[in-house]
Amino acid sequence: MPDRYDSCVVRPLESRGSTVRIPVIAGNWKMNTTIREATGLVSEMLPSLDRIENIEKVVCPPFISLGAVKKLISGTSIKLGAQNVYFEEKGAYTGEISPVMLSDLCEFVIIGHSERRQYFNETGEIINRKIRAALRVGLKPILCVGEKLEENESGRTEEVVTAQLDSSLAGVDYDRDSIIAYEPVWAIGTGRAATGKQANETIGFIRSKIEKLYGGEIARSMRILYGGSVTASNIAEFVQQPEIDGALVGGASLKAVEFVSMVKQTSQIKVG
Ligand code: PGA
Repeated sequence: MPDRYDSCVVRPLESRGSTVRIPVIAGNWKMNTTIREATGLVSEMLPSLDRIENIEKVVCPPFISLGAVKKLISGTSIKLGAQNVYFEEKGAYTGEISPVMLSDLCEFVIIGHSERRQYFNETGEIINRKIRAALRVGLKPILCVGEKLEENESGRTEEVVTAQLDSSLAGVDYDRDSIIAYEPVWAIGTGRAATGKQANETIGFIRSKIEKLYGGEIARSMRILYGGSVTASNIAEFVQQPEIDGALVGGASLKAVEFVSMVKQTSQIKVG
């Protein structure tokens, strides 16, 4: 196989017919931390985090802290992600950050977070363009999907998630390195997480959708995370589920001890 396959983060290990996916815990710091606070937070978690193996640990600070955090984590097992990206390569787009600029700094980029859909009017078409642009320069998207409370209550979760996946991934050659995060909007920042069972069901549904779009091998090896009020106290409930490969964590990722604990618990449950 070509080099590209060899350098994949996820190596599907066929064991007794099942595929082992390397778990991921990603911290979405949102619009929190100054540069000084960001480097302080990373320095605090780094020694413990670096020692935890067989799990991907990703921090996503604000754009302005990416450079400083990158310096701190260089040579460690901690990985860096951005929280957003624009789809044009360069030019007169005041205030925007292009995929090329990010590709020097980070490995991952969160795309289509519900806060961007809600406050910045990001549509499926915009998200689709961002994903294409990110993949073109080798950035690995963490694509977020999830339904609103009223959609959940009216039993439309699968319909909404399907529409989001269809529009975000239209014509996109998504691959096993890309990540999807299922984040029900009603669970984000509310303290009201989904149950492990609910999240597992929807993530299983997303995996079946990915199988239809990209085939069984990619569906079995793609990491799909849960996000929405995940903390050190409830993470076990999610990562015990067979379809859930880790978590995208907001608020609780801003506390070093809690983030390390979530990574440790996930590693113990998933890797043993
Ligand atoms: P939360 O955010 O963990 O604070 O609910 C999750 C997210 O928005 O990714």
